[in-house]
Amino acid sequence: MATVTPWEVSGSVDYDKLIEEFGTKKISPALREKLVSLAGEDNVMLRREFFFSHRDLDLVLKDYEAGKGFFLYTGRGPSGNMHIGHLIPLVFTKWLQDKFKVNLYIEITDDEKFLHKKNLKWEGVQEHSANNIADIAAVGFDPDRTFIFKDSEYAANVYPLLMQTARKVTFSTAKAVFGFTNETNIGMVQYPAYQMVPTFFEKKRCLIPAAIDQDPYWRIQRDIAESLGFYKTAAIHSKFFPPLQGVEGKMSASMGGSAIWLTDEEKTVRKKVMKYAFSGGQESVEEHRKKGGNVEVDVSFQWLKMLFEPNDKELKRIESEYTSGQLLTGELKQILVDRLNAFLAKHREMRERVDVDKLMYDGKLAKKMWEATYKA
Ligand code: TYM
Repeated sequence: MATVTPWEVSGSVDYDKLIEEFGTKKISPALREKLVSLAGEDNVMLRREFFFSHRDLDLVLKDYEAGKGFFLYTGRGPSGNMHIGHLIPLVFTKWLQDKFKVNLYIEITDDEKFLHKKNLKWEGVQEHSANNIADIAAVGFDPDRTFIFKDSEYAANVYPLLMQTARKVTFSTAKAVFGFTNETNIGMVQYPAYQMVPTFFEKKRCLIPAAIDQDPYWRIQRDIAESLGFYKTAAIHSKFFPPLQGVEGKMSASMGGSAIWLTDEEKTVRKKVMKYAFSGGQESVEEHRKKGGNVEVDVSFQWLKMLFEPNDKELKRIESEYTSGQLLTGELKQILVDRLNAFLAKHREMRERVDVDKLMYDGKLAKKMWEATYKA
């Protein structure tokens, strides 16, 4: 049995079942083609169905075509350092922003993580926030169309809207959707309202790229949005980047030593992939040469497929050579190690030179947001 909530993902996730359970829609080939054709470029995460589900993406594209436009919104809970799984939705978000030239809001939920993680101190969460913001900024968003804000810092600007949102959601709904109990602290009970608020930042349709674990918030937002005079939010959902140990569950911060952190050095990445990456290969080289490997369960292959080998022909070659036993597990792992290290080197370099203040305070959109007080 799999568990998928905003705070926990475990077990073997059946994504088709999740679509049914959450009441979302699968991205059909026709819708994918439409998105790609309006974007003017194909995208590996769409093509390989890493982004697989949506709400109202069709309406977002209609609005775009009709000249009404839309905006993007995503976020991060600063509970610690960021691993490679956290960056994936952001890389896709950047692609959308680049192609559609739209505004993007990124919420840093220091409040949520402080309330949820009893082992974290307020100051610690602030340190993680600053750290995470630098990593997020390194993705390279458009400085005049992006606003990164930290909940505690931006609260005064949204307080009227936050209260108007909170008043619409009963405890009974929050309990049913998030599983709150009598032991849940009252800060957590109000928190979901803040995660909904950014969907109301513009009187346009909002599109949220995130993994599907965040969808419960959007479900409530869609129940109340129109009564506040806004659009129901749209969303585009990704699967979970699996942990190195196996294709089940999601890579998560609690995996500590085995997750690939954005700060990992080249030799650390190599060590982790070689040691932990679950292999679909056989026990011995002789057996592997004879029987070949299984790419479906091989984590290195799955990571290459999801993002790190965008060239279809090259991926096919790796697949057939691994399946036939020509390519050994160590060799397959080495391909992934090289890709990961190239990705991380570029990330580190961007992190050094990106102007964080522009995204938070000085860019065109950021300035406008700091001047505004938001209400329904
Ligand atoms: P957080 O910090 O848990 O996760 C940040 C983003 O990363 C996604 N994610 C993953 N995606 C793929 N593979 C994984 N292994 C993986 N682990 C996490 C999450 O879906 C999310 O998109 N409450 C939120 C912060 C938030 C937010 C939002 C997220 C506020 N507003 C709007 C998305 C959209 C949180 O704690 O995310």
